[in-house]
Amino acid sequence: MRKPIIAGNWKMNLSLAEAGNLTKSLLEGDWSGDREVYIFPTFLQLEGIGARLEGQKDIRLGAQDGYPEASGAFTGEVSLYQLLEADVRAVIIGHSERRQIFEEPNDLIADKVDAAIEYELTPFYCCGEPLEVRELEEHESFVVEQLEKSLFHLEEEQMKQVVIAYEPVWAIGTGETATPEQAQSMHSFIRDEIEDRYSEDLASGIRILYGGSIKPHNAEELFSCKDVDGGLIGGASLQAEDFLSIIQAA
Ligand code: PGA
Repeated sequence: MRKPIIAGNWKMNLSLAEAGNLTKSLLEGDWSGDREVYIFPTFLQLEGIGARLEGQKDIRLGAQDGYPEASGAFTGEVSLYQLLEADVRAVIIGHSERRQIFEEPNDLIADKVDAAIEYELTPFYCCGEPLEVRELEEHESFVVEQLEKSLFHLEEEQMKQVVIAYEPVWAIGTGETATPEQAQSMHSFIRDEIEDRYSEDLASGIRILYGGSIKPHNAEELFSCKDVDGGLIGGASLQAEDFLSIIQAA
């Protein structure tokens, strides 16, 4: 049995006060049970939120990015190593906004994956195709190439630490969600690729989240797909009520 994960990617949103209030509402929310909940605030918010979460084991803290070198002359960056001090347990790697807006190449993404594994942070590795690739029906080969170039170099033991998020770019922040059939088909495809390269044991245990316009009204249907093990949620994770209802749907 794979334990579902509900993860909130706050992106570049919220003031310190708003982030604190949202965390408080989530901690007070009426949910429990067999699921893991993560929040990914901005770097600036991490320390304050970490302090709020102390002793509250229900919500885990993650960072939205991190640089693979431990320290050095990399102006503007925060290293994955430095993040350990903020009690961060996970990191989003390869999000389409980083791949597209900041032109992050696969070799940098692979280095980030390696550093996260080294520091025992859970990589939330994102993959997914843009609209033009989906229209050409080349989404499977596109996603496999992303995985091959920046994730499948890991050894089986290392892959066990990884969470994968399939996020079709055309569904992120657009309100246009993949249908449950589209999500299920890509998730089972990714799981099969993992089985081919690694083992049935790894493929059946690894969590594959869906991301892209998950909202309270569509969460349950998506989460009920056999190979969808929860979600990475952007916009709807910024409102306590919406995020709590998505947590409850898992
Ligand atoms: P969205 O973002 O839920 O706002 O579409 C998802 C993501 O980027 O992880």
